[in-house]
Amino acid sequence: MTHVFYRNSRSTPPKAARGDGAYIYDDTGKQYLDGSGGAAVSCLGHSDPDVIAAVQTQVASLDFAHTGFFTSEPAEALAERLIAHAPKGLDKVYFVSGGSEAVETALKMARQYCVEIGEPQRTRFISRRQSYHGNTLGALAVGGNVWRKAQFAPLLAETSHIAPCYAYRGQEEGESLEAYGQRVANELEAELLRVGPETVIAFVAEPVVGATLGAVPAVPGYFKRIREICDRYGVLLILDEVMCGMGRTGTLFACDQDGVAPDILTIAKGLGAGYQPIGATLCSAQIHEAFVQGSGFFQHGHTYIGHPVACAAGHAVVTKLTEGGMVARAAQMGEKLDSALRDAFGNHPHIGDIRGRGMFRGLELVEDRASKAPFDPARGINKRVKAAAFEAGLICYPMGGTVDGQRGDHVLLAPPFILTEDQIGELIEKLGIAFDAALA
Ligand SMILES: Cc1ncc(COP(=O)(O)O)c(C=O)c1O
Repeated sequence: MTHVFYRNSRSTPPKAARGDGAYIYDDTGKQYLDGSGGAAVSCLGHSDPDVIAAVQTQVASLDFAHTGFFTSEPAEALAERLIAHAPKGLDKVYFVSGGSEAVETALKMARQYCVEIGEPQRTRFISRRQSYHGNTLGALAVGGNVWRKAQFAPLLAETSHIAPCYAYRGQEEGESLEAYGQRVANELEAELLRVGPETVIAFVAEPVVGATLGAVPAVPGYFKRIREICDRYGVLLILDEVMCGMGRTGTLFACDQDGVAPDILTIAKGLGAGYQPIGATLCSAQIHEAFVQGSGFFQHGHTYIGHPVACAAGHAVVTKLTEGGMVARAAQMGEKLDSALRDAFGNHPHIGDIRGRGMFRGLELVEDRASKAPFDPARGINKRVKAAAFEAGLICYPMGGTVDGQRGDHVLLAPPFILTEDQIGELIEKLGIAFDAALA
């Protein structure tokens, strides 16, 4: 008998008892290789001694001090470290407790910025289909995933959605990658002109689309064109790096590889690496200055923002990622993971695409490789892969609706950066077992 409201109301998950390196153990002693860091969280594995020590030291000296009264050393130090590495122009960090809160904060910050600068008529967001930005009502509204939103639609603010940059399915015959990228980026301009650019607050996008598409990076030039369009119409660019940030793609910030800097950027997941719940919304000096010159007060806040223990964990994690060389390791091991995936599944009749960057990889499953026809959703292929992998002792992150929110299946991999070559072998072997079982 339990009083916990589980994710799945009809089944009880095994009880996780212990974590060690790349593995989680349940209370029966069964070992699971954490091939997706849960959902791209555990970038340093499950027993990092430096992060554990930082949390223990901090909680023993200062547990909590409300940000309505105080700042704290861990918050100051973490903000300084993040900004030292952040894309050009980003200057201030607003700490929260997770990804949805970071996105919600970004949306409200962007809206209030418009009010502060005397453009209150800006009330809309534009984002992309097949995106995921979180489950709170604002974040869900900008997200573009049909099934996650459906029953909550009456509660959600109206948002425009343009096409994702998803070359595997969107690029046309004879079209270069660059031309495809320009074509889909130009959808932003068309939508701005349709709704009236003076009514739009911001464009929101994930540099590498995670949960809903399975590690899909934009093609070269896409985000540069997006940045140009935003600048031309005075629309803010919000990049959501909750999943793809913090070294996951081989650079601390994913958008570094696209050569653009946003006005507002969200991070979470890998920032606390699972040791503490923490997220953050970074913004440019220009945005912050509008608050200084205007009302002087961002009308937002939650009790636990800037939590000292969470910030201490985040500081230890980011130190390890940067000075500790873990981002470089993610880039290097990510290439090995990619080659191993291609060797094992490159000719698999039901793997249509293998993609991603760094330790963020996706495999798209198809009924037929030539036509790219997806499986009938009724077969529940992604659910079967998840169950079969878990049975085999592998945690991965399969999802459905890849093509259009209804059809399509993919598997997302986001293992810890400490993964060894042997463990890459173990991951591939167990994933193969799962594919065989699910597709049988
Ligand atoms: C890109 C992106 N944004 C926001 C979120 C929401 O984060 P959280 O689940 O921590 O609220 C997620 C979660 O998967 C995400 O992938």
